[in-house]
Amino acid sequence: MEKHIRLLTIPLLLLFVVIGTVHAGKRGGGGGGGSAFYQVAPQVPVPESNPLTPEKIQLGRQLFRDRNLSDPSAGRTRVSCSTCHSGMMRLGFSDGRVRSTGVFGRQGKRNSPTVFDTAFLHSQFWDGRAKNLVDPISGEILPGTSLEAQALGPILDPLEMNNTPENVVRYVLRAYRSALLGAFPEIQQYLDTQYEVPIVYQAVGKAIASFERTVLSFNSPYDAYVAGNANALTTQQVQGLALFEGKGNCISCHAAPYFNDAVYTNADNTGFHNLGVFRQGFETDTNDANGGPLFPNTDLPEYEGYDLGRYYVTNDFADIGRFKTPTLRQLLCTSPYFHNGKYTSLRDAVEFVVRGTVANARDQFEGDFIGTIEPMIQSIRNQDWSEQEINNLTAFVRSLSGSCRSM
Ligand code: HEC
Ligand code: HEC
Repeated sequence: MEKHIRLLTIPLLLLFVVIGTVHAGKRGGGGGGGSAFYQVAPQVPVPESNPLTPEKIQLGRQLFRDRNLSDPSAGRTRVSCSTCHSGMMRLGFSDGRVRSTGVFGRQGKRNSPTVFDTAFLHSQFWDGRAKNLVDPISGEILPGTSLEAQALGPILDPLEMNNTPENVVRYVLRAYRSALLGAFPEIQQYLDTQYEVPIVYQAVGKAIASFERTVLSFNSPYDAYVAGNANALTTQQVQGLALFEGKGNCISCHAAPYFNDAVYTNADNTGFHNLGVFRQGFETDTNDANGGPLFPNTDLPEYEGYDLGRYYVTNDFADIGRFKTPTLRQLLCTSPYFHNGKYTSLRDAVEFVVRGTVANARDQFEGDFIGTIEPMIQSIRNQDWSEQEINNLTAFVRSLSGSCRSM
């Protein structure tokens, strides 16, 4: 897969010029070496099938915020990507909710993850189900296109945007025709053919993915610290860093610089783990779209109401209860935490990881977990953790957050 992915820096530098000016007011000097928002931190992997251009980024940025990509009959309840991944408020490209609200006020199934740094993931969603686009003409799998493939999911999801490719294509050909053909001149030849809908629909995914490849964090105190500013972290944060790399062994899953092990350089099936996150109350709810339980699991009736995570992708029993490791970057912006939005307090989330329970959790829910807790997590929990150590770890995790805003 890697050989189909080029590491590209030049277009991102270009982006500095194109979008950077728009944000000039927000970029603020802030010493400590490179605090510009669109910092070219590590090189962003870009698939060969979708070279990054300023035209695509600009179009994707508009589409990301356009509620008209959702069900036209939803009226005032129409939503856009940024409804659930807001780069405008202090939400860090998430929505601050336990679970998201789609068209007609429908409640989704999981907590909305951040879009920050998703460019570096090998697959998208908590269970990694978004993998690659398939070329509608040749049938060829297009490697490195998980962001493109992902973007087309929520548009069709009945609990999210509840729309059809035909509606979306009709709308973008009307509202964005010149920007679309400017960004993707090659699609002109397919208009008014049998390929019009699939080709234009994939172009929508490609534009949105191009925009997402520019949503990078790497402007945190931690980044300033590793760039050589020894004062960027507090003493407590430095103590937390030692626990993070040492006793806590957090680093083996939340590996620097992405604080994640589900990244494009790792094998596709790595980065899914069971931490024994307790079930929240809502999993057994019925949802507005079909009136049934959120997780019916009809093939495994003993698990009705449980989110089986990675199992849905692999059908391997060992994957029951495993979820994709989230980045620990930008967590100050993306509360609540875990795949089901279990904890709103970052300290509670960290305490849960190291102790498996939270003594005085701000949010208490009934529940239990499924599957087998990862042995590495068990051994972290087999150690004694003082309140002070948990505070220090939390302080370090806080240092991984930079500005929450973007667009
Ligand atoms: C109604 C709220 C909602 C809308 C609208 C929505 N999303 Fe999401 N998004 C979510 C939730 C919830 C998840 C996690 C779902 C899962 O893992 O099953 C998610 C997952 C993602 C991910 C995966 C991140 C990761 O770490 O795996 C990306 C990227 C993303 N969305 C981008 C988009 C884009 C692009 C759009 C618009 C085309 C969009 N979302 C529309 C709620 C929403
Ligand atoms: C075995 C791999 C692994 C190890 C080791 C690990 N984590 Fe995680 N971490 C995960 C996974 C997977 C999740 C998501 C679990 C879920 O939602 O079910 C997660 C979630 C988190 C979250 C919530 C983030 C969010 O966006 O929801 C925090 C905070 C966190 N981990 C901190 C830590 C700390 C601190 C350590 C070290 C003490 C650590 N983790 C060790 C895999 C790991």
